[in-house]
Order: sequence, then C-alpha cells, then structure tokens
Amino acid sequence: MSYLDIYQQSIEQPELFWREQAEQIKWYEFPETILSQDEHGFYRWFSGGKLNTSYLALDVHIEEGRGAQLAMIYDSPATDSQQKFTFLELRDQVAKFAGGLKNLGVEKGDRVIIYMPMVPEAAIAMLACARLGAIHSVVFGGFAPNELAVRIDDAKPKVLVTASCGIEFTRVIEYKPLVDQALKIAEFPPENTVVLQRPQAQAKMQSGQDHDWNELLNNAEPAEPVALDATDPLYILYTSGTTGLPKGVVRDNGGHAVALKYSMKAVYNTDPGDVFWAGSDVGWVVGHSYIVYAPLIQGCTTILYEGKPVRTPDAGAFWRLIEEHKVNTFFTAPTAFRAVKKEDPQAKLKKQYDISSLRTLFLAGERLDPPTYEWLKEILADGSQPEIPIIDHWWQTETGWAICSNPMGIEPQPLKNGSPTFPMPGYNVQVLDEEGETCKPGETGNIVIHLPLPPSCLPTLWNDDERFKQSYLSQYPGYYITGDEGIKDEDGYIFVMGRVDDVINVAGHRLSTGEMEELIAGHPDIAECAVTGIDDELRGQVPVGFVVLKDGAQISQDKMQEELIAIIRNNIGAVACFKQAGIVKRLPKTRSGKILRKTIRKLASETEVAVPPTIDDPLILEEIREIMQQRGIGQYATS
Ligand code: COA
Ligand code: AMP
Repeated sequence: MSYLDIYQQSIEQPELFWREQAEQIKWYEFPETILSQDEHGFYRWFSGGKLNTSYLALDVHIEEGRGAQLAMIYDSPATDSQQKFTFLELRDQVAKFAGGLKNLGVEKGDRVIIYMPMVPEAAIAMLACARLGAIHSVVFGGFAPNELAVRIDDAKPKVLVTASCGIEFTRVIEYKPLVDQALKIAEFPPENTVVLQRPQAQAKMQSGQDHDWNELLNNAEPAEPVALDATDPLYILYTSGTTGLPKGVVRDNGGHAVALKYSMKAVYNTDPGDVFWAGSDVGWVVGHSYIVYAPLIQGCTTILYEGKPVRTPDAGAFWRLIEEHKVNTFFTAPTAFRAVKKEDPQAKLKKQYDISSLRTLFLAGERLDPPTYEWLKEILADGSQPEIPIIDHWWQTETGWAICSNPMGIEPQPLKNGSPTFPMPGYNVQVLDEEGETCKPGETGNIVIHLPLPPSCLPTLWNDDERFKQSYLSQYPGYYITGDEGIKDEDGYIFVMGRVDDVINVAGHRLSTGEMEELIAGHPDIAECAVTGIDDELRGQVPVGFVVLKDGAQISQDKMQEELIAIIRNNIGAVACFKQAGIVKRLPKTRSGKILRKTIRKLASETEVAVPPTIDDPLILEEIREIMQQRGIGQYATS
C-alpha cells in the first residue's frame, strides 16, 4: 500500500489501523477496547490491555531465540571504555536491579527519579522500573539542583537513582553533591538514594539514605515483569513550558509500546538485528524513545554513547562509531553536526572510516537548517558509499515519536529542503490561523493536530489535568496545539518554522525563556526583563537577557551580566547556555503591555527591522541595538 493509502486509513479508521499495529506486540491480555475516552474526556488507547514494557524490550527476544544477540553497546570515549550486553545479559541485570528496587519498597505506581550520566545503568534503571510498573522520571544531568528539586516535589519519588559523577569532555562533574543539595531544597525528598560509584569520583555516602548500586544488586533476587494496564504510566518526563514549573509529560505503557514498535519500521525502516544509534541523552525524549525503548522493542542493538560529537577525541567520533559498531541507522540533532562541521568543514576525518553500514541518517530536536542539510548531502555523497538519505523529522516530548517524517519504511517520498515531509500515520496535522480557520497552502499559522492524538502521545500531564487542557486543548477545541508555527505547502509538505511560545531550543535542548525571566526578575535591581532566544550558528538559539533597572539602581553592564549568568547557571544549569545580558532603558511593548520579544530577537540578527505599529517611539529599538553592539550580542559578536 502507498503512504497515502495507509495515512488515509489511519485517519479515517484509527481503531482498525491501531488494532492491527497492536497485534504486532505481545500482550498478556489483548485490549478489548482500542480507543476510548476517560472521565475527563481525554482519549485513551488500548484500555483493558495488559502488558509489560520491560518484557517486550528484553524477555520477548530471549523467548524468540535472540538472547545471545547484542542488545546494547556502551561506547564511552569519556572513560575510554566499552561494554556490550546481550539481550540475556541485559535482561538479567534489569531483573536484578528491579529486585533491588523492590527491596527498597518500590512497587507498581511508585515514582523513581533517575539523575544519571550516559552509563548503561541509566537504561538498566529505566527498564527495571518498567519491569515493576514503577514510574520513572529521568532528569537530565545538566540540570542544576533546583531543577531536580522541582521535579522531585512534583513526582514525589520513593527512590532516587544517581551516579557519583558525569564526565563532560575531560571535566568530571560530581553528581552526589548536586543531589544532596536538591534533597535539601525539596519538600518531598525520597526515602532512599541509590548511587553508582564510578572510578572517576567517589561519592560520600550517608548511612540510612544512600545505597551502593552494586551492593543493592548483589543482595537482590531477579524480579519478574508485572502485568500492567495499557493505560498505566510508564514514565513522566518533565519538559519546559512557558513558566518556571516544568510540565510532567505522562507516557502510558500500551500506546507507547505499540507506536514505538510501529515507528521502528514505518519511520526508520529497521528490522530486528539492525544496529540503531540515537546520539542523544537518556535525559531527553529522544533518549527515552530511541536509545532505550524502541530499538530494544524492535530487537535491534542500541548504542549508548558517553561522548560528544567533537573533542572526544575529535570530530571523527560519529564516523568512528558507525564503522566500529556497523551502525545501520543514525539519529542525532543538527546542532551536533554543526559542531562537527565547525571543526572539520571538509569532513576529512570521515575518510579515515568505512561507513558503508549506514543506510539512513535521521535528524530531529530542531529544524534541519538548509545549510547543514546541504553540507551533509555534500559530504555523504563523496562517492565512497551509496547515497545515504538525510531525513529531517519533527516531534516533541509530548508525542514520543515523529509527528512528521519521510516514511522510509512505508514509501520514501521526494525530499523538500527545510521540510520534515509528511504527517506520520495517526497524526491529522493542520495549520490554523488565529481565528481557527485553515490556512491556505503556503500561509504561516499554528500547527495543530486534530484529536485523537495517536498512541504514545501524552494522555495528560502528571497531577495536572487542568494544565493539560489549558496548555494544549483549549485554544482550538478538538485540536492539540503543538506550540510550533509553520506552513503546509500545496503538495502537503509541512514546514516547521519555530515555537510561538516562550520555549527556545538551545543545542537541541528545550528550555523556557519564561522560566529564565521569572528567575531574573528576582534580582533586586531589576524593574523588568525579557529573555529571548537569538540565532546562534552552533546551537541554533541561545538565550540573551535584556533588563531595565529600577530607578536609582547602580550596577554596571558587566556586573549585571555576571550576576544574571550565575542566577541562571545555579538555578537551571549550565545547559541553559545563558552567557549574555544587557541593561537597556526601555523594552518594546504592545499597547496592552506585552513585551515584543520577537522584535528584540530580530534586532540581534537583522540589520533592517520594521518598527511595530504599537511602538510610539522608534528610538526604543535603536537604544537596544546600541547595547547589542556594545556587548557583542548576536550579529554584533566579535568572535
Ligand atoms: N551534565 C552536566 N553538564 C552538562 C551536561 C550534562 N549531561 N550536558 C551539557 N552540560 C554542560 C556543558 O558542559 C556546558 O557547560 P559549560 O558552559 O560549563 O561549558 C553547558 O552544559 C552547555 O552544554 P552544551 O550546549 O551541550 O555545549 P557543549 O559545548 O558541551 O556541546 C554540542 C555542544 C553541540 C556538541 C552538544 O550540545 C550536542 O551534542 N548537542 C546535541 C544535543 C542532542 O543530542 N539533543 C537531543 C535531541 S536529538
Ligand atoms: P522536545 O520536546 O525537547 O523534543 O522539543 C520539541 C520542539 O523542538 C518542537 O516543538 C520544535 O519546536 C522543535 N523541533 C524538534 N524537532 C524539530 C524538527 N525536525 N524541525 C523543527 N523543529 C523541531
């Protein structure tokens, strides 16, 4: 069947379509109901079905005779080591760690926070929770203690799992002091902490609270997978919203397993036994879906990489891994390749490696900008291997898998540079104007998805049904708003142009400028402020703050910048990449007082910026431009 026929069927007969996909995984009890609505009117997939995600990711393959196949390869230039796990070995480790969690009193429905670097134990902890029906919430290691504490207080975990340290290039970052600080700040700290001691740093343990990973494991009996309802949550993943409080995206077990299994063929065209590498971090949704769950559910070998695209040790790292582990499908963020391009513009290092195993390159996390696409196309078409398609695909933490992609396993479509191609089956994607009317082809509008969302998409937000409705469902009744704007062209291709809200994308990491503003506004000298994501050649966007001082406040530009950098770094984390700020006399606003952040953003990248009609005094923009010039912000950067 053609892509179009399959897509039409998925939209017109969603229950029939997803029943067929549900038949592709092993259930303890096949769901009676495919699609239903709960007491809040929220859509639920596969109600009544019983399954276990850890069983699907591990045990099924052993039962089917693939126990000796590699399930996971840990490749760590950070520690100069590698470790390989067959499905059998990984299942045994997961079952043992699940037993260890059980010994700490963890049961179905309990929450477990995982704050770990890119080590196999992070994936083992996730799968162990899934085995017990405990709900994991992985917090990215680059977040500061305050962010960790906010997530602890929302999830109220029974246990927190961490490691003694992470490694950033050659820098050892001790995690335990950060965890201890977060536990002090938190109102609802967990009763127990499990610590993986790594040789690079020894964590100080507190008796009663802290448990050594290995001891816990050695004293545990393996735990069997627990039969869970399809609608039971598998995990909560916090993501940036428009305010300081992150949104706890809930992922259920049934919809997630079915959609991810489906995506491994329809989107990525992979089969059991293939080697799949998502160069991301388990702290992000890409890591959840495509380092841990989907490749394992599909019976692929997944790669867990503790390193960077560059300087670990060089810009040939991606090519080295592809050759060494015979990677068939590689997925990363465009920013990672921009980092490679910066250090090795002619891709000379690629010539040292045989990357002939690579069939397809997938990119997501931010728009694949046309210059990066062109560069990749050029370096991958050097005649040393067959053509490798470069696929941009668009998705979000909320969905867990691609909303739009080139359907490589259904029927590859001609590419259009700058577009993630077509909606995937199950996603009825529309572009609406402010009044809710469908935009004409080529007209920019809000990208929305007609309900029901397909399986794996969030059924609600953790502990906050109201916020789920307000944030996603209230603007256009019957639709989910993605928060992105873009166009559908005359051929049905979707172009995603960027966020319409206060969310920015820094090196493929989703951050909230609203949260940064809330923090900055707490500075005693500041009357008002705006944080905006300005264009950045490497990271796509970086946040920059503009502040207006209170009357009489005396502080220099440099001192203010230094203090604001510290506020953001200490509260959100280094990952926010907040490095520049300027004191301005006034901020541009609408008549109702809304700050025109988009106009400020344009000033940082464009030489001619039209003065919005709501601004009475065009000098406001000139004053801001002057500060940008003085401080080397955006296009005025000196290096
Ligand atoms: N733990 C602790 N600190 C971390 C961290 C972690 N897991 N990840 C990042 N940081 C720190 C960095 O050390 C850096 O600190 P610094 O300001 O003291 O130098 C800061 O956060 C900013 O990190 P980043 O923006 O990632 O910069 P970088 O120089 O370390 O690396 C890239 C730049 C482009 C190579 C890197 O961001 C990258 O590979 N991005 C791809 C992202 C991705 O895969 N996203 C998922 C979607 S697919
Ligand atoms: P996250 O939830 O962290 O995955 O971030 C999701 C957001 O990243 C989306 O809403 C988009 O703004 C952006 N994004 C991710 N992938 C793409 C893509 N391929 N093209 C354009 N934007 C993307």
